Formats: sequence, structure tokens, C-alpha cells
Amino acid sequence: MIKTLIAANWKMNTNFGEAQQLTRDLLSSINDDAHVETVICPPFVYLQEISKLLEGQSIKIGAQNVYFEEKGAYTGEISSSMLSDFCEYVIIGHSERRQFFGDTNEIVNKKLRSAIEHSLTPILCVGENLEERENGDAEHVVGAQLEESLNNIEKTVNLVVAYEPVWAIGTGKAATSDIAEDIMRFIRSKLAAIYDNTFADNITLLYGGSVTADNVKDYLSQPNINGALVGGASLDAQKFQDIIDKAGEVAPL
Ligand code: PGA
Repeated sequence: MIKTLIAANWKMNTNFGEAQQLTRDLLSSINDDAHVETVICPPFVYLQEISKLLEGQSIKIGAQNVYFEEKGAYTGEISSSMLSDFCEYVIIGHSERRQFFGDTNEIVNKKLRSAIEHSLTPILCVGENLEERENGDAEHVVGAQLEESLNNIEKTVNLVVAYEPVWAIGTGKAATSDIAEDIMRFIRSKLAAIYDNTFADNITLLYGGSVTADNVKDYLSQPNINGALVGGASLDAQKFQDIIDKAGEVAPL
């Protein structure tokens, strides 16, 4: 049975005070019996302090990106070994990284390797844009993203895959749960082809793109969706808590 995972991607939002408050609010409302693993991914500069607030608590922490080199003259970058002191998770290949910062599948592959080497659990993001969906290319694009990103990476790793159709991110136009399930089923079959059935059957697959408390149960009721990656709605403690609570209602025990 795969444990339900709800991850918050704060993106480049919150000041330090807001980040602390948001974390405290979540800690005071979280229900540990909900059988839902909760992860928050604040901006880099808050990771150390927020990780202190989360010490001994059930909420886990992740970063939103990482650089693949170990150390050296890479001004402005953060390595997996630096993150591993504070984080358990790291988002890799988010569509905003691909769109604005040139993250290709090859770069994503290197980032995955470095994260795995340092025992971080990567949340690998894949997803097609609107044009690709309208051209009927969604599976082709997502399939290539998976193949190239996971090229020569061993299967014995903690890995989470998030399907985030670009047209659904931050737009309020969430994919229907049927559309999401179709691609998630495809992702699982692709992972079975790259690795094997057991690996594919046990991997946590998240849907992301305009997830709210109103739609999260629809996704989680689908056989191949095990959780959600939440952007906008994770910046409000109450809204995020509502998503976790709804997820708890349908989470496997
Ligand atoms: P959204 O973002 O929930 O605001 O659509 C999701 C994401 O980009 O991870």
C-alpha cells in the first residue's frame, strides 16, 4: 500500500516571518492520525530555520531545486550535500525550472543522480504544455521526460514522480481526474518498462496543478494517484490543512 503524500511547493513566496508563521500554523493544526505524509518546500534561505521548527514533528521538509555539482565555483548554486543537512526531499525538474531556467532532461538526470547520492528523495516533475496536449503529444512528451531523466539511474531509490500538466499550474484550470489518471496509468506503465512492475507498482505518483480542498479527493480516488503537489493553495495554512484533511478521508490506512 502506498502512503498518501501531500507536498507543498511555496515557490518564491513568503518573507521569513510569513514562512515561520505558516509552518507554526500547520504544526498546530496537523492531525498525525491522518495517514498522510506531509512535506513543505520553502525557499532555500528558510530551510535551516524551518527544519528546526519541524524537528521531531511529522511534517517533512524539502527544497525546490538543487544543483548537480558537488561543490566549487558555481556562484549562487546549492548542492545536494548542502541540502542533505536540512532536507529529506527535493523537487527536481519543475516546469518553471524547465521554462525559465533551462533545465533540460539531461540536467534533470544529473540533478536526480546527485540528490539520490545524498539520500534525498527527489520529487521528479513531468508534464506537457497546452500545445503538446492539444496536438495529442502528452504521452509522448511525458514518456520522453521519464526516459531521459531516469537514464541509467538505478531503481533501488526513493523516488516520487509528480505529473503536472503545465496548462494546469497556477491557472485554476485543474486537469479532470480522468485526464490525470490516464497519464498516471501511462507513467506507471512507463516506469514498469524502464524498471519493472514491482518498482512501478510501489512508486508514489502525485498530481499537481491547481489542486484545492475541493478537488483533491477526486484525484486520490483514482487508482494510480497517491498524492498531490500543491502550489498556490499551500500558502494559506487553512487551505493547505483542508487539503490534507480531505486527503486523509480517502488515504489508505
Ligand atoms: P499550483 O502549482 O497548485 O499553484 O497550480 C502547482 C505546482 O506548480 O507545483
